[in-house]
Amino acid sequence: MKRLFGALALLFLAPILARSLNPSLNDDVLGLIVFKADIQDPEGRLVSWNEEDDSPCNLNGVKCNPRSNRVFDGFSLSGKIGRGLLQLHFLRKLSLAKNNLTGSISLSLAQLTNLRVIDLSENSLSGTVPDDFFTQCGSLRSISLANNKFSGQISENLSSCPTLASVNFSSNQFSGLLPSGIWSSHGLRSLDLFDSLLEGEMPKGLEGSNNLRTINLRKNQFTGQIPDGIGGFLLLRSVDLSENLLSGSLPNTMQKLKLCNDLNLRKNSFMGEVPQWIGEMRSLETLDLSENSFSGQFPNSIGKLKSLKVLNISMNAFTGSLPESMINCENLLPLDASQNLLTGNVPS
Ligand SMILES: *[C@@H]1O[C@H](CO)[C@@H](O)[C@H](O)[C@H]1NC(C)=O
Ligand SMILES: *[C@@H]1O[C@H](CO)[C@@H](O)[C@H](O)[C@H]1NC(C)=O
Ligand SMILES: *[C@@H]1O[C@H](CO)[C@@H](O)[C@H](O)[C@H]1NC(C)=O
Ligand SMILES: *[C@@H]1O[C@H](CO)[C@@H](O)[C@H](O)[C@H]1NC(C)=O
Repeated sequence: MKRLFGALALLFLAPILARSLNPSLNDDVLGLIVFKADIQDPEGRLVSWNEEDDSPCNLNGVKCNPRSNRVFDGFSLSGKIGRGLLQLHFLRKLSLAKNNLTGSISLSLAQLTNLRVIDLSENSLSGTVPDDFFTQCGSLRSISLANNKFSGQISENLSSCPTLASVNFSSNQFSGLLPSGIWSSHGLRSLDLFDSLLEGEMPKGLEGSNNLRTINLRKNQFTGQIPDGIGGFLLLRSVDLSENLLSGSLPNTMQKLKLCNDLNLRKNSFMGEVPQWIGEMRSLETLDLSENSFSGQFPNSIGKLKSLKVLNISMNAFTGSLPESMINCENLLPLDASQNLLTGNVPS
């Protein structure tokens, strides 16, 4: 805590110092110097950074907008996040992936109004994401906090950021429910929440007007059925709900997902027959239904899936023989139908 206040004090001083020097560029230089003072730099990559520099643009690891000469892109540093970053009002892309950053993220990061991309993936950051982070998100398009130690709930406010297209919170320790309004984030194209401690039922979807292309909820503890609303996400290409505790049968609305290439439902508790409409999901290339409790005959509509390459139905309770129509799936690689109650051969 002490350290944090120290850094904050510097932050308030910096603008005053900056104004008394060169009013524009030195804001950025000072911000970077404050940032540097606050991090560890074992490889000495920032040694050459000097507060006497007129412009931040020649500093190692810093990219500037060629027109304004203001810092806007690309850091590749190691150490700890410092408050100095908050001086970089023109920063558009903050990329501090694959470092050893610790500590938490502050609300003020979201308040950098030009920031479009935050990539803090593969660090050791922890704590919660501040509740108001997404209500004050400026022009944020993409945020990756993947592979850190963030915890707590994912704020309901996530859907308050209209510009947000990509959220990658994979491999953290987020817990609790998915925000109930998550599907109303109309700009959201990609949601990756792989490998956390999320639970409860998935919120019901809204029909239509959703831009989601990719959803990955793999390796959490979601329960209940897949909501009917999933059929409203007409642009979905990849759906990975594997390694959860989902159950029931597949909602009929899923047949509307005509663009979906990849459907992974592995290792859940889905049951009942695989519906005939599966043949309507014409774009499917990968279908993994393994490790569930599906039963009955496998539907012969499978033959309509001309793009299908990978089919894994192992570890279910399918009976009867596999449909002859499967010979129409010309791209199908050897399928895995092991550990079922099937008879006969794989049609070929
Ligand atoms: C992170 O820190 C550990 C120990 O301090 C070090 O061994 C490792 O190389 C560091 N990783 C990176 C990416 O800097
Ligand atoms: C999320 O981040 C992880 C780690 O950087 C990466 O492997 C994964 O592909 C990302 N997910 C998406 C949907 O881009
Ligand atoms: C953000 O989330 C907090 C806590 O959930 C809530 O009290 C607050 O009203 C939310 N802000 C907005 C703008 O929705
Ligand atoms: C099919 O799924 C099972 C269970 O999830 C897995 O162990 C097996 O490796 C998969 N088969 C193929 C060919 O990928």
